[in-house]
Amino acid sequence: MAILEIRKYPDEVLKKKAQPISNIDGKLQKLIDDMIETMYKSNGIGLAAPQVGVSKRLIVVDTSQRENKSGLIVLVNPEIVMSDGEILSEEGCLSLPGFLTRLKRKEKVLIKGLDREGKEVEIEGEGLLGRALQHEIDHLEGILLIDRISPLKRELFRRKYLKSKK
Ligand code: NI
Repeated sequence: MAILEIRKYPDEVLKKKAQPISNIDGKLQKLIDDMIETMYKSNGIGLAAPQVGVSKRLIVVDTSQRENKSGLIVLVNPEIVMSDGEILSEEGCLSLPGFLTRLKRKEKVLIKGLDREGKEVEIEGEGLLGRALQHEIDHLEGILLIDRISPLKRELFRRKYLKSKK
């Protein structure tokens, strides 16, 4: 296993729509293991493949450090099939270090996808798990937290963040 480099805003790969995965092969298994290790090492509760520079539809999520429920979830080609309610909560992202914002998300989601063996699975998520799943699936669409805030807040963030990187 290996720790992968986490791509940070404004890396172009984070803006791209990720491609569906058709081959669940040894190369993918290695990527999954590396993403899991990278997520734990970074104290993250989720990671999407584009965040490690791979524009493919793969996410890993584990919210059990903060909410003892889910355990480790690996999803290939995940899709939100149902959602319900709305909830406002604070959210951050490993690709936007130091940035936190309050954001409205669906309260409950039902996700369909494949597990790491290619078997079809359905995952129901609410609370932090539901939020993490929605956040990681956004990454597969090239959507970051800052794309979900108001244009004014986004512009203020951009100026501050890009200045701090210089
Ligand atoms: Ni993120």
